[in-house]
Amino acid sequence: MTLVLGIESSCDETGAAVIEDGRHIRSNVVATQIDLHRQYGGVFPEMASRQHMLTITPVIEQGLSDAGVGYDDLDAIAVTHGPGLAGSLLVGVNAAKAIAFARDIPLVGVNHLEGHIYANWLIPTNLEPGKEPPAEPEFPLLTLIVSGGHTELVLVTDHGTYRLLGRTIDDAAGEAFDKVGRLLGLEYPGGPAIERSARVGNPEAFELPRAWMKDTYDFSFSGLKTAVLRVVQEFDQKARQTSLVQRNRLVSTQTTTIVRDVPVANLAASFQTAVVDVLVEKTRLAATEHNVKMVLLAGGVAANTHLREEMMRRLDVPVRVPPVALCTDNGAIIGAAGHYRYMAGERAGWDLDVIANLPLPVMDG
Ligand code: KG4
Ligand code: ZN
Repeated sequence: MTLVLGIESSCDETGAAVIEDGRHIRSNVVATQIDLHRQYGGVFPEMASRQHMLTITPVIEQGLSDAGVGYDDLDAIAVTHGPGLAGSLLVGVNAAKAIAFARDIPLVGVNHLEGHIYANWLIPTNLEPGKEPPAEPEFPLLTLIVSGGHTELVLVTDHGTYRLLGRTIDDAAGEAFDKVGRLLGLEYPGGPAIERSARVGNPEAFELPRAWMKDTYDFSFSGLKTAVLRVVQEFDQKARQTSLVQRNRLVSTQTTTIVRDVPVANLAASFQTAVVDVLVEKTRLAATEHNVKMVLLAGGVAANTHLREEMMRRLDVPVRVPPVALCTDNGAIIGAAGHYRYMAGERAGWDLDVIANLPLPVMDG
């Protein structure tokens, strides 16, 4: 049995988990900072790193105690060293180094994006009793990484062997959700808020553009975001005119407050459908062209129910999605990815550094 402690602190979640043999979650503790950053409408980097400093030790201790293990039971410590916010990454990396050094435990540096992919190796903890756990994903496979900072379509032919087929040329899918959420006056983070709002909206209410980026597997979401902005501005303009007309008629007791009259649910649903449409269609084409055995969804946006359902409905190959709780940042996914790197003989030195824009280690061509 191999036990790996996975540590994550790349953005606004502090996570620690103990993973057995790369697939079994013995514990998974996450301290999220979402409430802290909500007042700023996005992640405030300086506050994120300070908060990681406060939570990292209790989160790691809780992770070990939930798993019923001590430092001496660990075979390795895996930690995210990029991509992410440098100040946040430093907290996890330094904590991991300190424990590894003090207890003489092998250290493994993990790419955060690889962690998201390996969420699909983890066995869900809520499996019905008696139900067989899913088998390991089979290569070659295609993975769509959709997170707050990334949108990448990657062909995976073996553990750690990646070929980049396409990526976003501007906003990441999650970033688009977050920006449009803000435009619509929804709370941060925009992804889950748009999904909730879209449930009562009509996805055909607005005809929004899809950037097909013909003959490539690349994505672009900034035009879609601008299209939503235009619609919002038109509604605001109308509201302003109405309030002016009323002011002219009612002379005195007027306030200049403009009542926003944007059909939020319909816009949210139309936007979500436009994003999902492109993500699913490109993935479908790439899965067919490369004849893959399965498709894995990865990253925070993979929590989106419409994306999960459409991917399963429109693709001919099996589609695997991690449980929602494992789509967003946590230590378990880092422990899983770290396990396979550790088994392949990888070890990080004390010079392991944080790399804010660390890319997935893809092959050329
Ligand atoms: O992977 P993640 O936790 O952090 C990064 O590594 O970026 O992803 C966070 C992103 C945010 O942009 C958030 O709005 C988005 O994932 N997200 C969602 C949903 N849940 C989280 N987007 C759409 N639908 C959701 N249900
Ligand atoms: Zn992430």
